[in-house]
Amino acid sequence: MEKVLVTGGAGFIGSNFVRYLYRVRPNWQITVLDALTYAVNKENLKGLDEQRVSLVLGNICDQALVDKLIAETDAVVHFAAESHNDNSLQSPWPFVETNIIGTFRLIEAARKHGKRFHHISTDEVYGDLELSDPQKFTETTAYNPSSPYSSTKAGSDHLVRAWVRSFGLKATLSNCSNNYGPYQHVEKFIPRQVTEVLLGRQPKLYGQGQNVRDWIHTEDHSSAVLTILEKGKIGETYLIGANGEKNNKEVVELILEILGKDSQDYEHVNDRPGHDLRYAIDSTKLRSELGWQPKYTDFRAGLSDTIEWYKQNETWWKPQKAITEAKYQELGR
Ligand code: NAD
Ligand code: DAU
Repeated sequence: MEKVLVTGGAGFIGSNFVRYLYRVRPNWQITVLDALTYAVNKENLKGLDEQRVSLVLGNICDQALVDKLIAETDAVVHFAAESHNDNSLQSPWPFVETNIIGTFRLIEAARKHGKRFHHISTDEVYGDLELSDPQKFTETTAYNPSSPYSSTKAGSDHLVRAWVRSFGLKATLSNCSNNYGPYQHVEKFIPRQVTEVLLGRQPKLYGQGQNVRDWIHTEDHSSAVLTILEKGKIGETYLIGANGEKNNKEVVELILEILGKDSQDYEHVNDRPGHDLRYAIDSTKLRSELGWQPKYTDFRAGLSDTIEWYKQNETWWKPQKAITEAKYQELGR
């Protein structure tokens, strides 16, 4: 494989993946197809050699454009999506359009040109678990999405699976848990709380803060995706996770502690409607069949690095901060 098309490669996880690939596969040509939505800061791909990484500004729903780009590539890694649950509760249509119709356009082009396709998805397609449930999600857990966001991701997964079975699309899928790391938009939980504290304000916990997320450093997500792209079996789904279960209250307390503040100095705000209680990933299949291992197994250390990145990159997040908080204020969150 020498030429890869990365959709959504200017976003949080996509740009971290592009930087990772740039470092570990120096002979590969990377083309990023991205609509540069509100979720993107143009600095995300700054500093990369344009001979090796080219950015095409465009929409994955544009069939003629994706057809042309996919004809020219060896493989597609599909990250592009509307990604934020809270936004999907306010305005679901862009989620249906990008996540379902956009994925449809891409897989149509990939099957036409016989290209390798890797679909990026989320653990949220499985719904949620009880706090006391000893089970975790596995590749055979039934789909049961709760939100407009997760239901559109589930829809896109079903399309990819059907295209594999009906048309022989050379696709793999991965469903990952919550990512953290640099370049994540301030609307998301960890960057929101870190930047609130950096601005001298209190972090904001939805409800009682008992909801559990299974945190993974975004670089570990990148290494898992590359492993699946190179060694994964066509038609298979792989769950990606790093045993990082924490409830939201614990994460907020840790952020405050790392920043040298009183760990109880946070506020409770309105809960998210339909808020999933707990996600937890069993990534045995990926580890045992493809030999993948996460590198960031110490959450405190990974979180400290991430906090340091936000401290050092205020000009990156500041322009979006006030706009994002104004949206949250309207929701009482
Ligand atoms: P993000 O919102 O930061 O990035 C999404 C990217 O897609 C942006 O660059 C945006 O401009 C682009 N995009 C959106 N609509 C587009 C369109 N119509 N055409 C072209 N580009 C478009 O999201 P993220 O958190 O980086 O998530 C990336 C992918 O990973 C998504 O598919 C998401 O479902 C999945 N995922 C995210 C997480 C997480 O914790 N954030 C976990 C598991 C899976
Ligand atoms: O599980 C993977 C998913 O993780 C991805 O598919 C999504 O794209 C990604 O956004 C993320 O979804 P969540 O809804 O879990 O992430 P979010 O950062 O929005 O919230 C994480 C948890 O923190 C969730 O329980 C809600 C809570 N929360 C969030 C915000 C923004 C708060 O308590 N306070 C907040 O201010």
